[in-house]
Parts: sequence; C-alpha cells; structure tokens
Amino acid sequence: MAQPNQNQEKLVWWKEATAYQIYPRSFYDSNADGIGDIPGIIKKLDYLADLGIDLVWICPFYQSPNDDNGYDISDYQAIHPDFGCLDDVDRLIREAHKRGIKIIIDLVINHTSDEHPWFIESRQNRNSAKRDWYIWRDGSEAITEKPTNEPNNWESIFHGSAWQYDAETAQYYLHLFSSKQPDLNWENPEVKAALFSMIHWWLERGIDGFRVDAISHIKKQANLPSLPNPNGDNYVSSFKYHMNVKGIEEHLHELRDKAFSPFDIVTVGEANGVAAEDALTWVAEETATNKAGVFNMIFQFEHMNLWSEDSNQSSFNLVKFKQILTRWQNALEGMGWNALYLENHDQARSINTFGNPNYRYASATALATCYFLMKGTPFIYQGQELGLVNFHFTSLDQFDDISARNLINKLKHQGKSDQYILSLLNRVSRDHSRLPMPWNSEENGGFSTVTPWITVNPNYERINVSEQLNNQNSVLQFYKQLIELRKQHKSLIIGRYKLILADDPNVYAYQRVSDDCTWTIITNLSDNVAKVNIDCSALGDLILDNQTKNNEIAKTNFEKTGLASAYGAYVFMTKH
Ligand code: NOJ
Repeated sequence: MAQPNQNQEKLVWWKEATAYQIYPRSFYDSNADGIGDIPGIIKKLDYLADLGIDLVWICPFYQSPNDDNGYDISDYQAIHPDFGCLDDVDRLIREAHKRGIKIIIDLVINHTSDEHPWFIESRQNRNSAKRDWYIWRDGSEAITEKPTNEPNNWESIFHGSAWQYDAETAQYYLHLFSSKQPDLNWENPEVKAALFSMIHWWLERGIDGFRVDAISHIKKQANLPSLPNPNGDNYVSSFKYHMNVKGIEEHLHELRDKAFSPFDIVTVGEANGVAAEDALTWVAEETATNKAGVFNMIFQFEHMNLWSEDSNQSSFNLVKFKQILTRWQNALEGMGWNALYLENHDQARSINTFGNPNYRYASATALATCYFLMKGTPFIYQGQELGLVNFHFTSLDQFDDISARNLINKLKHQGKSDQYILSLLNRVSRDHSRLPMPWNSEENGGFSTVTPWITVNPNYERINVSEQLNNQNSVLQFYKQLIELRKQHKSLIIGRYKLILADDPNVYAYQRVSDDCTWTIITNLSDNVAKVNIDCSALGDLILDNQTKNNEIAKTNFEKTGLASAYGAYVFMTKH
C-alpha cells in the first residue's frame, strides 16, 4: 500500500528512474485473443527489469466501450476483460515491486465514457441528480452561419463539433474528445469528490502514482463563448477556451491536496498548452515559502508540434526544437523536474518525425542520446528502444484510431483526395505507435499466436526484441548503455544543463555541469556529415558513441576532424 507522504529529499527515486510506457493492447497477448493484456505485461517484467526500467506507465486498462481505446472509461474500478481482472492488477503490482519497478496508471478524469453510469443517469432527464455532473446546454439560435444549432462553434480535439445533441432531453453535451467521451463538470464539487474517492481507492490498492490524462482541459472558459470565425468554418479550433484556462489552479490544487497529498506517489500530468513560463504552477517543488506545484512532472507538448500538418512539409526545425527544450530545462532548473520524451501512443515514431528511417540505427541512437541525457526523467515508449519506425499504410480503411477516422471524414468533406489524406496520416497517425510490439521473428512478431487486433508491421522479421538482445550493435543494447550510464553517474541526474551551438541547424550539443565533472553531449541530427564548431580537445573522455565499438577510434576521428557523421552521437566527460 502507498505510504503517507514523508519529507521529500531533493534527490528522490523518480528523478533517478528510467520510465517506460506500455500501451497494453499492443504489448503482449498472453491468452491468444489478439489483444495484449495484464498477464502479458507480467510475463515481460523481466525484460523491463533487464533493460533497467524503474517506473512503468500503463495506458488505460479499465472497463470501456473502446471508442478511444480505453480513454473512454465506463467503470474506473473495473478492468476490461480483454486485459484481465483486478486480481491480475494486484499480481502485476506485486511482481513489479519484487523487481524494483513501480507502476503508475492512466488517470482519465477530464471525461468519462457516455456509457459510464454517471453519464447514463445524467442524460436521463433534465432534473436528474447527476445532470450537472456533465456540461449540458441548450442549442443556440445565435450562430446562424452554421448548418446546426450547437451551443457554440467549438471544434472537438478529435474533429467535428465539440457538442453532441441528445434527443431525449433536447440538449447538447460537451465533449472535447470523441462524442462518446462527455466532459465532466469540474465546477461541481460532487464530481470532484467522486473522482477523488476513486483515486484513493486505487492508491490504497498499491498503485505508485498516475499519469494524469488531458488534465489541462478540466477548466472551461466561463459561459463557453463562441470563437471568432473569420473563415466561416463549421467549427473553430477551441483550445483557447478549454486549455490551461485561468482559474484551473483551483481545481489542480484541490486535486493535489485532497487526492494526491496524503500519499507518497509520483504524478505526471499531461499538460498540453502549458508553457515553460507557467510550468512552476504545475511542477514547482515544495520550499519553505512555496507550497509545491501539483505534479512531480508534466508532459509538455511544445517540442512535439514542430512540423506542419501540410503533408508536403515533413522536416522538423532543429533550432526551434533546441530553443523549446532549453527553455524547459532552464525554467525548471533547481525548482521543478522535467519529464523527457520523444514518443508516446499519440505520436508517430520519432525516427520518422525527427530522424530518418534510412539511417535507422544511427538516428534512433542519436535521438536517444539527445533527449535521454537532459535533466529530467526519461520516458521510453514501447518499441522506441528497438528503433521501431512507422508502418506504411496503403488504404484509409486501415486506420483504427477514432481521431484519424474523424479526420478522414472531415477532410473528405472538404474535398481532399484520399491520396492527400493517406500521405498526411502516414506521417502523423497515432496508429503508427499502436501496432503490436515485435518480440521475435515468429508469426505476428511473437506478440500473439492469433491475428492481432490491429495490423502488424511486417518488418518484425528484422526488427524485434530477440534479435536485438543477441546483437551487441542494436538500438536496444544502446538504450541499455544509456540507462546504465545514467544510473552510474549522479552528475547526469543533477548536473545543470547548458546549451552550446544554439544556432547550429544540424547539431544538438549541450553540457551537463556539476561540481566534479562536465558532460558534453553532441548529436548530429542531420543526414549529412556536420562540422562541430567546438574545441574538441577539451572534452575529456569519450564515454559513449554510436559510431564504432572502439571508442578511441571514434574519439580520434572526431577530435582530428571535428566532423560528426550523419546522426552521429558522442558523449564526453571530463573531471574537474
Ligand atoms: C490524451 C491521451 O493520451 C489520448 O490517447 C486520448 O485520446 C486523449 N487524451 C483523450 O483521453
């Protein structure tokens, strides 16, 4: 059982931890139904322990009609039978703890499923005791330029209107995500009390904390005003009025004080729309004069949106990428803590987005080196440690994700060609990262003995866990080295981050400086050999690189020429 909070030391376990994210549906199928499950995760705990993982975040496994693959919860305290049962969760916690691994689960409290008993009761009639647990409004006559009569012109994050008409009671309910994910009304104290009691129930069960879904959306702009609509669109992107809206702190503080504070746990908030400037409201550490922020870490989004939605534009802007991550490193220095990530279940694979699949090993390891050794807790998304790349979808019918399917409808409606939509989704679809984990070169990559719920990337024959465990020159072995390096050197946990070569368009280079040593991390994130404009002779020992197994040769080459190969990664350390 989680213990009541004790005075936190500056260096706490979750700062030293390496975290790993599991999308359970696609991790490992233990009962031959084509769907990954909790006993499947238990079977792979030794793999995670061997990799060096200390903390695992598991995406939702609760009861759900699966409109958004489990992010639409119909019972917070029950497990979807596809994944197992509560006993399996208890066993998972026990088995993980035996191996020194902590487990955090997804806490989805901005919305429920429309099949949750709370919503079923809420929609029954306008006088229902739970009517005000969700956000119901009459249609608006005021919006005349639109074909429908929704209360305002907000677009859902998953495309289309953010409102769903309910004929029974002749009102609309708000859903920022799919129409089967009605938003809870956080202005109603009863809603918060019910959520907090559910949170306590999980914590008393022994869960080590939460990744808190969509938490920057719980506060909506008062009166839910329409947005300006200069182009006369059907619906208008509405983030401004429901993302990190002023006043959200009150809800967040209540969440911290009433739900989290009594327990010694780790919390990571999903914080779309939170900028480095306001980050301390979210993650400040407790000091004598300042009560802590709300979460131990947040997933900020700023570095993930550096490519355009225009399907012709695929390259990302490294200088901006450096500016953003450096802003976050500096903003939290000594006062908060970063969650470091390049991939998750909502993103395409990072090699395709930030690197180049033609240089799969080099770009996987260079990207890994680049983000992993910054100050913060690194999160690895399942398969990232193998250097998995995007799947090539050939038809729009292949997409499973509700947001992709809604986008297809929207773009078709706008007259976009199938080819345009396919090319866009081949670049950004969330399904890329949701394909089954390849464990070996057997059928279905060893994920399942029957046809999996979603297509398998046929490259499992080459790229899989078993092959990489046996191959000293694999991406997996490189990740193991990075994880071990961080474990061996406190200076990589606490050292200050300092960007160098800020304007270089090809090279991401930075230092981690502590009292006893300086690390210099140099990654060429381009397809070409890059000149690195620093004094190579003062960098110290080359501790890790992705060039050759012989460090001295890599070092000499680099020192002689100052030239970093395409997606070359070099980690130096000098003692003071
Ligand atoms: C963020 C989650 O990461 C995503 O997968 C989900 O669709 C939305 N929140 C809605 O819960």
